[in-house]
Amino acid sequence: MAEDTIKLVVKRRQEQGHGIMVLDLVDAAGGALPAFSAGAHVDIHLSPELVRQYSLCSDPAQRDIYRLGILKDAQSRGGSLAAHATLKEGDEVFVSLPRNHFPLVGGARRSILIGGGIGITPMIAMAHALSAEGADFELHYRGRSREACAFVDELAASAFSDRVHTHFGEEGAASLDLGRILGAPDSGTHVYVCGPAGFMSWVIDSAKALGFADEAIHREFFQVETDSSGAAFEVEARRTGATVRVEEGQSIVDALAKVGIKVKVSCEQGVCGTCLCDVIEGTPDHRDVYLTDEEKMDNDQILLCCSRARTARLVLDI
Ligand code: FES
Repeated sequence: MAEDTIKLVVKRRQEQGHGIMVLDLVDAAGGALPAFSAGAHVDIHLSPELVRQYSLCSDPAQRDIYRLGILKDAQSRGGSLAAHATLKEGDEVFVSLPRNHFPLVGGARRSILIGGGIGITPMIAMAHALSAEGADFELHYRGRSREACAFVDELAASAFSDRVHTHFGEEGAASLDLGRILGAPDSGTHVYVCGPAGFMSWVIDSAKALGFADEAIHREFFQVETDSSGAAFEVEARRTGATVRVEEGQSIVDALAKVGIKVKVSCEQGVCGTCLCDVIEGTPDHRDVYLTDEEKMDNDQILLCCSRARTARLVLDI
């Protein structure tokens, strides 16, 4: 087990909405947990081969609990099904230290949080943090129906309930009017979105069309389709001194593994950033959703689990 992994206990498991498991994880001895900032996630080690990431949705100021919401997704690669099938109250579970690829921008004039379905989870922690700061924010929760969604009662009972706006299908409020919600862009307004890929694309494209700059649109993808098609290319691992051919349909991670170079991965979908590597020469063909558009244009970093090459050869700092 990695050094940055801690052993916690499932204190409470609740079923909420349609197929959502809400877990409260605590230290077995009741101690304080490592601090986290709003937007952070942890890796849950469901087995040595099965590591999955889930956003922390508890109040970052509450140091004795990590709360997670896990949707049972039959389309997933097995992580959520295994979590639902195996985790029960009293179980020990190995969890990474919190990491944050989706932080709030400090000092924003206004923050607009938009969660679709289970994508509400990081937004709840963000709302706690912004509320504690006395910051100006709104939380918009889009879901298929009130019954299908988790955390509805918790949000209604929260200290920031007056800032929570729900958009549930059956209540006639399904249409998130993004033009009205986002308004005219200004340099002090930041938009945060998490949810299914199609929902996120819609929010991101709408915000851009309204004139929001890419730096003002913050996103956390939790499920994406990755495409590994494309011509074969060569990768030189400069520090290791090996050169490998990456075949069509093969990932750089898999090609490097064949010559004994082990790249640390987690989501394997270009979402989490765990496999990020510096590019020394060559042009990546970015297939991830982790790097921003600007970072992609710099072409000096690549996600090795999913991205490919636009040039015949890539030289990597690995
Ligand atoms: S392992 Fe998550 S981005 Fe590559």
